[in-house]
Amino acid sequence: MQNLQGVDFFQLNHAFWIAERKVNVPLYDFQFSPLFHITRPRTDTLKAIIARLGAIDLYDQVYEDLKAIGFRLINSPQEHDLASELAHWYPQIQAFTPRSMIFEQVPTADQILEHFELPVFIKGNRQTAKHNPRLAIATNRAELEFILKSYQQNTILHWQKLVCREFIPLQKLDYQTQNTVPVSFEFRTFWWRETLVGAGPYWSHLVDYNWTSAQQREALQIASQAAQRLKIPFLVIDVALTAQGKWIIIECNDGQESGYAGIDAAKLWRNILTIEKQQTT
Ligand SMILES: Nc1ncnc2c1ncn2[C@@H]1O[C@H](COP(=O)(O)OP(=O)(O)O)[C@@H](O)[C@H]1O
Ligand SMILES: [Mg+2]
Repeated sequence: MQNLQGVDFFQLNHAFWIAERKVNVPLYDFQFSPLFHITRPRTDTLKAIIARLGAIDLYDQVYEDLKAIGFRLINSPQEHDLASELAHWYPQIQAFTPRSMIFEQVPTADQILEHFELPVFIKGNRQTAKHNPRLAIATNRAELEFILKSYQQNTILHWQKLVCREFIPLQKLDYQTQNTVPVSFEFRTFWWRETLVGAGPYWSHLVDYNWTSAQQREALQIASQAAQRLKIPFLVIDVALTAQGKWIIIECNDGQESGYAGIDAAKLWRNILTIEKQQTT
């Protein structure tokens, strides 16, 4: 039960349970009270629950720990893996996302260049090293070799399988910084049981931007197709506009672990509550 230390359990508007621990990341944490009605009723039947605990290292274990005290996490361990590991979601939605290869062991530059032209985008099966461009984008062989070498030492990267993706130039925003990958026209979308419950600018903490309703329609069409294929109860899909004007999927994630980005969190939870109420009435 060590995994659940300091976790608060409460029911939101009598509709569903949340397991929460603040992680002190403003883009992730949300103050539910007093905007929502919060109760902590005693329960002796198995209840569905949403985790807002930040990134969950040992999902299977947390899943079991919660089950032992009467809660069933909204995404099963299989659904969690499908949402958060490229190796799982990529085969299902290949048509919408840059061509990618997963390497079980860190490959050599030659092995990569057999399958890809430069530049390439390198990341872990789950994530990059905090969007550090020097560890993600290789425009020449020396940069590629540097990334592959760093990969074995970096604490975020070394335990993940390595993924190599075709580098797709994206539509850049006016704001740029050396510390992160090119800041691009990207949006985060949240899906609750395959219904859109929130969408907003991904880089909203750095720069103000928004999409037109036509752009939104086009992007959501792709994201909703992906959501329908993946069928994950609480899912996040990030989409971006390429420099050539096409919408692509950048990645998927478990909605429980995702920050809100430029999405109004109160509205997101209200949308989820509305869907849940319709299901129970
Ligand atoms: N194949 C790609 N080509 C170009 N840019 C990419 C590609 N994949 C990701 N990016 C850019 O890098 C950022 C971080 O990549 P992402 O896969 O989302 O990693 P993380 O899981 O660490 O967030 C994305 O938000 C996007 O701007
Ligand atoms: Mg990302």
